[in-house]
Amino acid sequence: MSKITSSTLLKFKQEGKKFTSLTAYDASFASAFDSEGVDVLLVGDSMGMVLQGHDDTLPVSVEDIAYHTRCVRRGVKRALLIADMPFMSYATPEQAMTNAAILMQAGANMVKVEGGHWLLETVKKLTERGIPVCAHLGLTPQSVHVFGGFKIQGRDADNAQRILDEAKAIEAAGAQLLVVECIPAPLAKAISEALTIPVIGIGAGADTDGQILVMHDVLGISSGYIPRFSKNYLKQTGEIREAIRAYIDEVEKGIFPGSEHTFS
Ligand code: KIV
Repeated sequence: MSKITSSTLLKFKQEGKKFTSLTAYDASFASAFDSEGVDVLLVGDSMGMVLQGHDDTLPVSVEDIAYHTRCVRRGVKRALLIADMPFMSYATPEQAMTNAAILMQAGANMVKVEGGHWLLETVKKLTERGIPVCAHLGLTPQSVHVFGGFKIQGRDADNAQRILDEAKAIEAAGAQLLVVECIPAPLAKAISEALTIPVIGIGAGADTDGQILVMHDVLGISSGYIPRFSKNYLKQTGEIREAIRAYIDEVEKGIFPGSEHTFS
């Protein structure tokens, strides 16, 4: 069993093989997801909502992410492990380097940051110093209060063009992976085709190189509601490992996400 690295994901993209990603926050779920074949695990700041019960991701701290990264690390043998950098932990390149180092030393293989043009210098500095970066564009939840709610992004031509330009710029700055969240499917397709690096979608249609979901949504246990772009695989399988296999299978075959999970 060879470990998934950024080179593996690049190869998957070049071969047109769709890959899967899930959030994970502890060793037991991480081990189950990893052994069933999920390629990328994200210790997401979504923990603020699904673990801690907040309304958004802003209260999550670097120590929260570091603790859960250490837990997940112990369960992972194969998958690439990404740790989210929480709200305001990368407001300056210096803060980003200090906090990213903590997350890498907790066991992450890569860190994820939300934002576009303002992050270019940070992405370049982190990469130059040996910290691989996954960027995140579109509906970036740490900016929920700027957006005025969890709203689809890039629906008008100007914003769509800005997101596409930011994706190209962030790749040029050194990012090795990009997550696009809640954007129209045609825009996600254009970004995936324009970039050499793999693009992972959530609420972004079927044409990205990989898909990511929050584990609580896949297992139908999110408090509140399951977003339209997600799918409860436990409902159709009744068993957690089977649910994960069904998710992987549907992504690989291009069945998930369907049009009912996609924004235009
Ligand atoms: O925090 C998270 O779980 C995320 C994914 C939804 C992409 O950023």
